[in-house]
Amino acid sequence: MHAVCVAGARPNLVKIKPVLDALEMAGAATTFVHTGQHYDESMSGVFLADLGIRTPDRFLGVGSGTHAEQTGKVMVAFEAELEKLGADVVVVTGDVNSTVACALVAAKAGVQVAHVEAGLRSRDWSMPEEVNRVVTDRVSDYLFAPSEDATATLAAEGYRADQVHLVGNVMVDSLLANLDRARERGTPARFGLEAGGYGLVTLHRPANVDEPEVLASLVATLGTLAADLPLVFPVHPRTRARLGALDVPTGLRLLDPQGYLDFVALEADAALVLTDSGGIQEETTALGVPCLTLRENTERPVTVAEGTNQVVGRDPARILAAARAVVDHGVEPRCPALWDGHAGRRIAAVLTDQVPTRTLRPTDLPAGGS
Ligand code: UD1
Ligand code: UDP
Repeated sequence: MHAVCVAGARPNLVKIKPVLDALEMAGAATTFVHTGQHYDESMSGVFLADLGIRTPDRFLGVGSGTHAEQTGKVMVAFEAELEKLGADVVVVTGDVNSTVACALVAAKAGVQVAHVEAGLRSRDWSMPEEVNRVVTDRVSDYLFAPSEDATATLAAEGYRADQVHLVGNVMVDSLLANLDRARERGTPARFGLEAGGYGLVTLHRPANVDEPEVLASLVATLGTLAADLPLVFPVHPRTRARLGALDVPTGLRLLDPQGYLDFVALEADAALVLTDSGGIQEETTALGVPCLTLRENTERPVTVAEGTNQVVGRDPARILAAARAVVDHGVEPRCPALWDGHAGRRIAAVLTDQVPTRTLRPTDLPAGGS
């Protein structure tokens, strides 16, 4: 079986690694395609190195752009590669523009599509990722769900039970595989931080960072919290451009985007994480670290129902009250079923068992063969 495995943005790299490894362990041939949606060393190269992912077999180099530009460029470039490569299945992860672009191309090329992280819904159609999730699931043949709420959503949307596979969480596979190595780096101490004595912040959702008043209010609120609890904030490039115009309060310490191992090390020892990231809601649950999600909704409600996450929105008083309560009282560490480090293996087992492999074409036969 030949699987073409796609990644484009930072979180895709974290998610695809366990799938690539497990497919190869199961005897499948893999081609690793990087679309180039993220391209800075700090957003891509360091993830390949930290996670031990091989150099991409194909690099599409699409870069940044509007939604249509980026999605269109990925589609055109991926269509040409897929035609040359051939594939029994194309594996996409998550909800970024590269995900939906490659899923659409594969579906129209008549190649089976596997979506890792299927069935997540924020029910917020203003999020570009929600459009990507819904469309990607719709054109996928294999829907790999991380949790039971996702399988229930897919059933309610009419997907057949035989398309949907509850496999657990590949982001947690990578986390558990790398946690010891991450801790050994001593990253918090390098920044002068004590374990349990600081908070970690990330923000990159357009709804939070693209509106100057919203971002200014969030930064001011974080500044108030930072008077009691030092905060470190590795800044996503989308956010960096917008923060330039603001006064950043002392106590809120801006860092460059961190490599995967350094970030996990910071996360594991934080008293509290404040974020709008999807993956970080999951990692904090797996680590037992309290998480406050600075959004009005989440596509990952299992991290609230069975984890350490609270969705607190953007209201300053609510954020500060929740943060102080968590710092004073902590949270109960809990983790959803199957977030155990073996999701990649479950995915590979389904694909190697179920994906029909290509019948030989005349050109595949050895010269002179009959
Ligand atoms: C993308 C995903 C988002 C995901 C996030 C993970 C979409 C629609 N959005 O958002 O779902 O949560 O990645 O981090 O797919 N830039 C750089 N260097 C880079 C990459 C980006 O400077 O290596 C800057 C560019 O100015 C670019 C901007 O960041 O325009 C946004 O990048 P883009 O990939 O379009 O969206 P993200 O906000 O990163
Ligand atoms: N991450 C990282 N360095 C950072 C911020 C995040 O290594 O400075 C990792 C984080 O541990 C997780 C992934 O990037 O594995 C999450 O990506 P992001 O928040 O960009 O995207 P989302 O999950 O929201 O799509």
